[in-house]
Amino acid sequence: EGEGAAAGGGAAEAAAPAEAAEFAVRPKVIFVLGGPGAGKGTQCEKIVKEYGFVHLSAGDLLRAERKSGSADGELIESYIKEGNIVPVEITVRLLEKAMLASGASKFLVDGFPRNEDNLLGWERLMGGKSDVEFVLFYDVDDSTREERLLGRSLTSGRSDDNIETIRKRFKVFRDEVRQRRQR
Ligand code: C5P
Ligand code: MG
Repeated sequence: EGEGAAAGGGAAEAAAPAEAAEFAVRPKVIFVLGGPGAGKGTQCEKIVKEYGFVHLSAGDLLRAERKSGSADGELIESYIKEGNIVPVEITVRLLEKAMLASGASKFLVDGFPRNEDNLLGWERLMGGKSDVEFVLFYDVDDSTREERLLGRSLTSGRSDDNIETIRKRFKVFRDEVRQRRQR
């Protein structure tokens, strides 16, 4: 993470390596989806070991941004605590920043897109400069996912791994993620 890729100008800059402003190679992206607790992160780690993608979890990036104490931090927490989906401009900005910082060109984007706002925002902001190859969808029933999340809650320290927020996240998943576009 964070290796100063030689994507930019090439002039020797003595200061900290500047983050590349654009991609040297057009990135390929696989979206990894599934309900809360489906095991997206777990499976991504295995795929990374075998196939050398860079794994970016939208949820992890949002939690890191929240922790950083940035202006968006409180807003992000208010969404996460209620299991709601953060406005896409924030999430895509974090994803793009992490993609650029990695210097890589093959990404597993885990937990994104989560709703139509996410999808349209990606198309608008990233569609012109990246290719989505396909979507991996882990289809796991509610009771198994609930059990996994409650198990994880013992050690995760996550403000959304409690039964009230888990139920809200399941509802958001049913209403927003799985909902078909009806047009
Ligand atoms: O994927 P994960 O379970 O880590 O996501 C945790 C929370 O982060 C979600 O319930 C949601 O509040 C937020 N999130 C989001 N937009 C995304 C991914 C996650 O708002 N695309
Ligand atoms: Mg995850």
